[in-house]
Order: sequence, then C-alpha cells, then structure tokens
Amino acid sequence: MSLIEEVNSRRTFAIISHPDAGKTTLTEKLLLYGGAIHLAGSVKARKTTKHAVSDWMEIEKQRGISVTSSVLQFDYEGHHINILDTPGHQDFSEDTYRTLMAADSAVMLIDVAKGVEAQTKKLFRVCKERGIPIFTFVNKIDHFGRNPFDLLSEIEDILGIRAYPMNWPIGINGNYQGIYDRNAASIELFEKDTSHGQHKLASTKGSAADPLFSDLLDEDVHQSLIDDIELLDEAGDDFDMEKVKNGTLTPMFFGSAMTNFGVKPFLDKFLELAPQPQPRKCLEGTVLPDAEQFTSFVFKIQANMNPQHHDRIVFMRICSGKFEKGMTVTHRQSGRTLRLMQPQQFLATERTIIEDAYPGDIIGVFDSGNLGVGDTLFSDKKTVTFADFPTFPPELFARIRAKDSMKRKQFLKGMTQLAQEGAVQIYENLGSMESYIVGAVGQLQFEVLEYRLKHEYGVDLEMNTLPYSVARWIESDSQTYEHLKNIDSAMIVKDHKQRVVLLITNEWQANWIIERNPDFHFCATPDELALPATLME
Ligand code: G4P
Repeated sequence: MSLIEEVNSRRTFAIISHPDAGKTTLTEKLLLYGGAIHLAGSVKARKTTKHAVSDWMEIEKQRGISVTSSVLQFDYEGHHINILDTPGHQDFSEDTYRTLMAADSAVMLIDVAKGVEAQTKKLFRVCKERGIPIFTFVNKIDHFGRNPFDLLSEIEDILGIRAYPMNWPIGINGNYQGIYDRNAASIELFEKDTSHGQHKLASTKGSAADPLFSDLLDEDVHQSLIDDIELLDEAGDDFDMEKVKNGTLTPMFFGSAMTNFGVKPFLDKFLELAPQPQPRKCLEGTVLPDAEQFTSFVFKIQANMNPQHHDRIVFMRICSGKFEKGMTVTHRQSGRTLRLMQPQQFLATERTIIEDAYPGDIIGVFDSGNLGVGDTLFSDKKTVTFADFPTFPPELFARIRAKDSMKRKQFLKGMTQLAQEGAVQIYENLGSMESYIVGAVGQLQFEVLEYRLKHEYGVDLEMNTLPYSVARWIESDSQTYEHLKNIDSAMIVKDHKQRVVLLITNEWQANWIIERNPDFHFCATPDELALPATLME
C-alpha cells in the first residue's frame, strides 16, 4: 500500500466515559469484530485476575488496575484501528488527558439510565478544546433508560454541543424494544431475555413501512415512534458533516454493548464518518500525514517496567511519514540523534516488535531518560516542533518532603525526573526549601509518586494532602503578587516556570478572590497566559 492509502485506512480514537457506562464491554465487542480476541471476557479479565498489556508496574498488580492508558490495535474490514484506552475513576490521571492529544476522534459512551456524568464531562472538555469529532454511543438500551429527548437536551445543555441521532430507541417510559435507523428508515426489534444481557439478542429487522411492525409493536409504542421521528425531522438539527468534523455536532447512536445490539452498525458508520489522521500544526507550519518525512510526538512515558534496569517506555504518536525499525531520528528538544530500536505495538493482550508503522499508529520505544512528554522526533533535516502539551488544571494538592533529610539529593533527582515525565505537577513552596507542593488530577498520581520515589530512588515520603481543589495562575511579575487582597484562605506557590499560582479551596472562593482583585488577570491554566491560539491545534 502507498503511504496515502496507509493513512486513509487508519482510525485512531479514544473512548471517553464515566466508570460503569460499559467502556470495557464495548471495547471488547469492537475487538471481537476485528478478530483481535476470540473470547468475550478477555479484556474484562484485566480488571480482575489476569493482567494485560500495561501491567508493568507492581502497583498495578497490587490493585488490579491499569495505571497508564494502553493502546489496542486491530484490523477490521480494511481499516487499521487504534483504540486509545482512557482509564476509569480511581486511576484517572494526567495520562488520561494526554492520551486524548494523540486521538483523531473520540467516542463518548453514555449510560442510557444515567446520562452525562462527571468524568465524561471532564474528558469531553479536552476533546472539545482540541476540536476533534466526537461520536456518542448511548449504551444499555436493553435496560430501563431515560427519555431520549431528555438525553439529547442534556448533551446540548451540559456539554454545549448539538447532537444528531443516527438512530432512535423504540419504546415508551424508558422500556425499549429496539431501534429505528433514521437514514435507512428501518426498524430492528430485539426480544428481551432474562440472562442479564449475556447473549446476543434475537431480533427482527425490516423497513419501517413493513406492516409486520404494526403487529409486533403495541399501538401506543408505534404511534410514539412516529411522533418522535416527526419531531426529530422537524425540530432537530440537520446532519452536517462539516460540523461533525469540527466537533460541534455529535452523531448519536443508541445500542447495547453487552447484548451486541446496534454495535456493528455503530462501528461501520463510525469508521465511515471518523477522520483518518489529519494534518497537525507545528511551530514551523503544518505537517501533512502523507508527507515523506517521519514526525511524531511523545504523549506518554511509562517508567520502571523492569525495576532492576529503570526501563522507560516512551509512547509516541506518528504524525507523518513511514516509521521503520531501527531508523535514526532527531530529538527536537535536545538536538541529538537517536536510533529507535525495538519498537513495539500492542495487541489486545500482548506486545510485539514491529518492523514499520504509519501516521495514526502508536509505537513504544525504550529510552534511558532522554525524552519527555510532548517532545518531537523527526527524520531528515527539516526541523519540526509540535507545540507543548497544554497543562491540565490539577484538582488535588499535597505537601511532600523526604522523611530522611539526608536523602534530599535523591529526593530532588527523583522529583525532577518524575516531573519531566509528567507524572505530577510540582510547585515551589514559597515558605520552605525542604518541602514541595504537588498537584494532580487523580489520587492515583500521588500513590504512584510515593511508590516510585521509594522504589526507584530509595526515598520515603512524608505527604500531607492540602484542602485545595482549584489552581489559578496569575498574570503579573513575581513582585506584585504581594498586593493581592483577601487571599488568607489561599496558598501561593510557583510553578516550574516561576509563574505565581494561587491554590484555592473551591470555585466559589476562587471567584470571590478574583472579584476582589480586579487589577490581576487570573487563568485556570498557564497555557491561557502565553500560548498563541494558533498552536492549540
Ligand atoms: P466500564 O469499563 O465503563 O467501567 O464498564 P464495564 O464495561 O465494566 O460495564 C459496567 C457494567 O455494565 C457491567 O456490569 C457490564 O456488564 C454492564 N453493561 C455493559 N454494557 C451493557 C449493556 O449494554 N446492557 C446492560 N444491561 N449492561 C451492560 P457488572 O454487573 O458490573 O459486571 P458483569 O458482572 O456483568 O461483568
């Protein structure tokens, strides 16, 4: 295949959802279609006894979870699919956010009974800022669910995006019997069973005009379907592919991952509408995916896969050109050249060494500590620099110091390396030389930090969590922050670029402080301070 054909066959996406919406179940069904696994349950087993791809760190084994996002790759009907896994709630971390930087589109999974939940909202925000297409799968319609019009307006109100239902659940009062495909004007009814969705549901398909359905559906259900479709056609949005592409309209599908109802039609339509790898902005201009030059950026680093050797695997997303095993590339940030040996790719449960890879693919390479998150690698002479990753606002803060003050040197070395890896955000504690303030988006990041400082650097940490949940960067030079008023309840720290940050208890307090300090400009992330809009990609 030519390079352009390779690019066009790729779909790289993440599934975003709140825990328990059914992400594992849906992923498993997608892998089954692709033939990457042959047994339902193989992915799910990861949650309990078996340990899969990303199970490298001891902490993962102890907790039976995957600490960092993994990548699943498989082929399906001419498409080469990369699913970026975004972990669930306790294991939520900055990695989860960063993974979304490597995706070309996202599937937002919603539980039909619960609607838009907290974690979906957070992940959605990152996708929306990137302007990538978002597809919605409303899951568990084999179960009692909420009114689909309520879900539609919830998506529009809470997330601020329009939705276009591609299909529509048939039933009243949340008791669904099947789906209506709007494009094909066809109906598929399933037969409920009592096996808690363990079997594929038997179904009857046909044109909506088929008199068969008047017999199969109760009159009120039939009438309600006719009314709903009429309302959608008249009052709903038109399908507009341009809006889908820029992430302002989400195609919405109803189905049930567990009973495999509506999953294949969803997958087929998703692959048709979801974009192949797109051009990426860089400081020097735009990188086209089918350009000859190989370019990639690092979006995740997983260290300590082998504690004896302090191994690090660096995950990079290929943006252009063909990757070949052993190729020599330039590391933009250090200017050094390096050979990419032993590149790995990831199937459902195993890692394999690969010979080549293409734009949209994710590869992992061993690295001894030279590469950092957000770094660019490229072949040939022409310099390419992908923009820095945005900083994701931390919501949890702790004060840390080495228990043994003799270990200060190791403590500093460990903190510097872990910060470079992006494991946590580190702030200078203005009142103390001994302690630092760390910020994270998930509790697990603190646990990983504690564990790794102990096992990799021999430092026992003393960690005290702080009562703050909001950070605000201040646009001013460091002298003037002393003029801030009414900040007794907040804490002042500095980030790694010496910018002043206020740590505040909650949003309400933050707004109160902002109102009382009209001469200062407050930002929720440091990126708002400096990064030109053109680089936000
Ligand atoms: P997650 O990865 O998003 O956290 O969710 P997961 O797939 O683990 O699914 C959460 C629960 O929802 C599981 O039930 C799963 O079986 C169920 N589920 C997923 N899709 C559907 C669906 O389409 N219909 C119905 N009715 N249930 C669904 P569980 O009881 O926690 O686990 P299990 O004992 O069934 O494995």
